[in-house]
Amino acid sequence: MSGILIEIKNLTLTLSNTKILENINLTVEPGKIHCLVGPNGGGKTSLLKSILGQVPYEGEIFISYEKSKIIGYVPQYLDFEKTLPITVEDFLAIIYQKKPCFLGISRKYKKTVDELLRKMGMYEKRKRLVGNLSGGERQRLLLAQAIYPEPDLLILDEPFTGIDVLGEEYFKSVINNLKNKGITILWIHHNLKQVIEMADTVTCIKKEIQFSGDPKKVLDNDKILTVFS
Ligand SMILES: Nc1ncnc2c1ncn2[C@@H]1O[C@H](COP(=O)(O)OP(=O)(O)O)[C@@H](O)[C@H]1O
Ligand SMILES: [Mg+2]
Repeated sequence: MSGILIEIKNLTLTLSNTKILENINLTVEPGKIHCLVGPNGGGKTSLLKSILGQVPYEGEIFISYEKSKIIGYVPQYLDFEKTLPITVEDFLAIIYQKKPCFLGISRKYKKTVDELLRKMGMYEKRKRLVGNLSGGERQRLLLAQAIYPEPDLLILDEPFTGIDVLGEEYFKSVINNLKNKGITILWIHHNLKQVIEMADTVTCIKKEIQFSGDPKKVLDNDKILTVFS
């Protein structure tokens, strides 16, 4: 079991004088798929950013791990200068190699980068500028960078946005494979049918935790209506 354990205690997040999250208490057990659901603006992305240390929260977040603490992250949006002269293969190479990618991809990582691109169905598009990719292609690239090196914790923020059915099926199998290896997966997902199908636990967030538990038990129609309407 290599997955990471996350314990969130009394987390409150205030941004621009507005309370975004309030009194969040949550344990994310290792080696399981945890989904976060809730209405737009409920604070799901902000909770992930708190865990990643990207926003100044109050309260405590403990991250426990056995051997390594590699975190793979697929953000909801890629804040990106569209005209930046960076190709798909460079985008992956700069994550791994020390030398600047305008000097070429290191021989050491060329094979890894090519393999990842093939796996994600992006090999043919490796010379394209990242700014010119379609939404779904960009998601494939973001997923590629998140799964190598193999993470102990995979954080996904609505990774299927813009992706086609084949891509979605493929990523579901990637996610299930990682889970079977004991990797912890924390996943914001709005497809409740898939949450029931894939998640071990689900937590609904609308500033505070609305409910949390086994998706097959807690995701009944009444509850969903009260939270999403
Ligand atoms: N940097 C920020 N400053 C002020 N408000 C923010 C900031 N980032 C997010 N918010 C607000 O926090 C709320 C929750 O946003 P978010 O975490 O993105 O929700 P979700 O991912 O559930 O849709 C939204 O109302 C959003 O406008
Ligand atoms: Mg969000």
